[in-house]
Amino acid sequence: MRSLRTGSSLAALVTGAALLFTAPAAHAADSPLRDLAAARGKVIGTAVTGAKLTGTYGDIAGSQFSSLTPGNAMKWGTVEPTQGSFNWTEADQIVAFAQAHNQQVRGHTLVWHNQNPSWLTNGSWTPTQLSGLLQNHISTEVGRYKGKIAAWDVVNEPFNEDGTYRSTLWYDNLGADYIANALTWAHAADPGAKLYINDYNVEGVGAKSTALYNLVKDLKSRGVPIDGVGLQAHLVLGQVPATLQQNIQRFADLGVDVAITELDVRMALPADSAKLAQQAADFKSVVAACAAVTRCAGVTVWGFTDSDSWVPSTFPGYGAATPYDENYAPKPAYFGIAQALGGTTTTPPPPTGACSATYSVTSQWNTGFTGQVTIACSGASLSSWKANWTFGAGQKITQSWNATCAQSGTAVSCANAPYNGSVPDGSSVSFGFNGSWSGSNPVPTVTLG
Ligand code: XIL
Repeated sequence: MRSLRTGSSLAALVTGAALLFTAPAAHAADSPLRDLAAARGKVIGTAVTGAKLTGTYGDIAGSQFSSLTPGNAMKWGTVEPTQGSFNWTEADQIVAFAQAHNQQVRGHTLVWHNQNPSWLTNGSWTPTQLSGLLQNHISTEVGRYKGKIAAWDVVNEPFNEDGTYRSTLWYDNLGADYIANALTWAHAADPGAKLYINDYNVEGVGAKSTALYNLVKDLKSRGVPIDGVGLQAHLVLGQVPATLQQNIQRFADLGVDVAITELDVRMALPADSAKLAQQAADFKSVVAACAAVTRCAGVTVWGFTDSDSWVPSTFPGYGAATPYDENYAPKPAYFGIAQALGGTTTTPPPPTGACSATYSVTSQWNTGFTGQVTIACSGASLSSWKANWTFGAGQKITQSWNATCAQSGTAVSCANAPYNGSVPDGSSVSFGFNGSWSGSNPVPTVTLG
C-alpha cells in the first residue's frame, strides 16, 4: 500500500516523456526577513559556511539576513591549526561578504572546550602558560577583526546542566576566572564589540540559566566587561520553553543584552506537513519572544537551509531543522519567522499531490518495447508506492525490473521492490519493463496509488 506522508491528493497524471510536476507553493515573504527585523529594531542572522557563499546560498544569505555568524571559521582549531600558523581564509571571506552586504558579524567563538587545535589540547601547560596562550589567542583574533565584529561569543558553553561549571581545559586549569579574564582581554582588543557568554539549554528559566544569570550578575558587580548572553536555542520540535520570554526579560533587567544565537528546531525524520507546521509555530514563538523584549538584539538561525545544518550528523534520525529546505525553498518555519517580525505573508498551505509519475517509452521495435516509469516527490515523500495504468491498445508487460508488475486484462499495477519503496522529498525512483505491442503503442496515464 502506498503511504503518502504529506498531502492527500495523489493523482499524478503524466503522458509520454512530458513531466507534469506539481511543485509546492513556495514564495518568500514580500519583504526580506532582514527588512522586517530592522523595522522592529532587531537583527536576524544566520550561521554560514564560507565556501558556500555563492549562487543561491549566497543570494539568500546576503538578502534575507542582517547578521552572519561563521559556523566554524573563527573557532580556534580552524584559525590556528598549528601553533603560530594561522589560517584566516574562511573568516576573512565571511567578514568581507558581510561588509559587502551591509551585514553585522557575530564572532564565534573564542573560549570553548570543543574544536580546539590538538597542539593546544594535547600539550602540557602550566596554568601560567595556558593563561598566556588564551590571552594571546583572544588578543590576536579579536584584534584582527577590530571594528568589524558587532558581538563576540567570547565564552561558549561554560556550564553543566545543573549549573555547576563544566570541567574543561580552561576551568580545570585556570578556575572560573578564565571567564572574567577572557572578557577583559577581548574588551582590550576591541572595545567596540559587544561581549557575550553563550550557552545551550539556557533558554528557559532553570538551574543552568540561573547559574548564567548569577555569573553575569557577579561579573557586572565586579566591573568585568559583559554585554550580553547568547541563548543558543538548539530546540526539539514542540519544545520551546514556556519561560523563554520571561528568561530573556530577567537578563535584560540585569542590564545585559540577549541574543538567540543558534536557533534550530529539529524533528524526527521524515518531515511531514504536521511537523513542519509545528516547527513554524516554534520558530515564530522564539522570534516573537525576542521581539517582545527591547534588549533582545535579535535571532540567529544555525544554518538557514537543511542542506547546511549540523543536526542530521549530530542527532541521528533528526533533521529538517532550519527555515529553508535542502533545495532552498522557504519552509513554513520561514513564514513563522516572518510573521513574528510583523510580516503578513501567510504560511503556504502544506504541499499536496507533490509526488508524480512519468511514463516513457525508452525504446521500441517491431513487436516489443521497453518502458520506464519515474516517481518523483517534491514537498512530500512516499514510504511505498504502486504505479497503476491501463493500456489502451492491447500492450502486455512481459518482464519488469525494480518493481513487481502484475497485469490483468488492460490494467497494470506495479509495486515497489523491497529496496526502493522510499521516495524522500526531493528525490525520485525509476523502474523499467519490457512489453509487447501491435498496431500502436500509445502512452498511458499513470496514477500513483
Ligand atoms: C557546530 C557546527 O555547526 C558544526 O559544523 C561543527 O561540526 C560542530 O559545531 N554549539 C555551538 C556551535 O556553539 O559552535 C556548534 O556548531 C553547535 C553547537
